[in-house]
Amino acid sequence: MASTKKRIAVLPGDGIGKEVIPAALEVIEASGVTVEFTHFDWGADRYLADGTTVPTDGFTTLAGDFNAVFLGAFGDPRVKTNIHAKEILLGMRFKMDLYANVRPVRLLDPSLCPLKGIEPKDVDFVVIRENTEGVYVDSGGIFKQGTADELAVQEDINTRKGVERIIRFAFEYCKSEKKSDGSARTRVLLCDKSNAMTYAGSLWQRVFKEVSAEYPHFKAEHMYVDALCTQMVRDPRQLDVIVTNNMFGDIISDLGAGLQGGLGMAASGNIHPGKTSMFEPVHGSAPPLAGKNVANPIGAILTAAMMLKHLGFTMEPSRIEASVLEAVRQKQTTADVGGTVGTRESADWIAKRVAGS
Ligand code: NAD
Ligand code: IPM
Ligand code: MN
Repeated sequence: MASTKKRIAVLPGDGIGKEVIPAALEVIEASGVTVEFTHFDWGADRYLADGTTVPTDGFTTLAGDFNAVFLGAFGDPRVKTNIHAKEILLGMRFKMDLYANVRPVRLLDPSLCPLKGIEPKDVDFVVIRENTEGVYVDSGGIFKQGTADELAVQEDINTRKGVERIIRFAFEYCKSEKKSDGSARTRVLLCDKSNAMTYAGSLWQRVFKEVSAEYPHFKAEHMYVDALCTQMVRDPRQLDVIVTNNMFGDIISDLGAGLQGGLGMAASGNIHPGKTSMFEPVHGSAPPLAGKNVANPIGAILTAAMMLKHLGFTMEPSRIEASVLEAVRQKQTTADVGGTVGTRESADWIAKRVAGS
């Protein structure tokens, strides 16, 4: 157990973030960990009230005063430009240099998988997504906007440093993280589109070859992103650690969420080893579900477990994961994963089980 009290910055954000984050905090509290929460109101309401997206020195405060950031989601139909989400979420990933977006894809129970004959041991892989570069950096521009000659350029930025550190992170993850059944991870697969995007593809291919040579005990594999999408659905058993760029990682991690029971089940961490890292469920603010007590809190609860593990706790995250599994088995869940209870009731059930285990 970690000895000093860990400080966690909490940003529920918009929509269902305001429901799933309090639900997950209840479960963290029930686990008895020694942590302290500080709440931040960044999000659409604040932006609409006073125009603030990220307050002055906001990221410096998060990085300097906290051990981790726990975040819900950003996105609100009232903010058509999505500017606040971009400045807060992408701003945090970029400015705090959280270069590794770790998105585990784990099936907890066969009932959650849309594929036939698939067991939990068959779906236990992880997407390691580059989180600070690619088409997300918004390099480019619009020329002759609004005319018949309009031209839009969205450049795909890939630096040697950025590509190398994410590939190395993937091999280190393979070395240090076990599968859910306790067995070792053995394979790292590069997912790209180097047959069409040849410049960026060439850089990723060369760096992957170099870095993989430093890890001779692990199998280095490659698939084009389109072929990988088929394989994720046809035979997820073959997948272990996948490393890829920002945009492909975004897309295949939602496909991965589909294998786990949907977006309500998927957890993620935005990590820079040694720096304050940020943890958020993979899903967004889901405006149609907001305020109805129907959003699945499990993605946020599993994200909380991931954060606690990152902070050095061991027993508590295991108890949280075991309790979530039991909630799924006993259908103490929201309707998207087969249950009949609401967000709060599902979290209450899990929290009680965590406290009593
Ligand atoms: P979304 O993930 O918010 O929702 C898509 C659909 O998935 C929902 O309509 C719902 O059917 C299901 N879903 C998602 N989370 C669920 C949960 N916890 N329980 C049950 N069902 C759930 O994606 P979207 O509709 O494409 O985006 C909505 C807004 O969220 C947009 O503004 C988008 O930009 C934003 N977004 C933010 C983040 C983030 O802040 N990390 C991530 C993704 C999307
Ligand atoms: C995610 C989201 C974000 C992304 C959006 C909201 C910018 O889809 O966290 O997966 O594309 O990274
Ligand atoms: Mn996404």
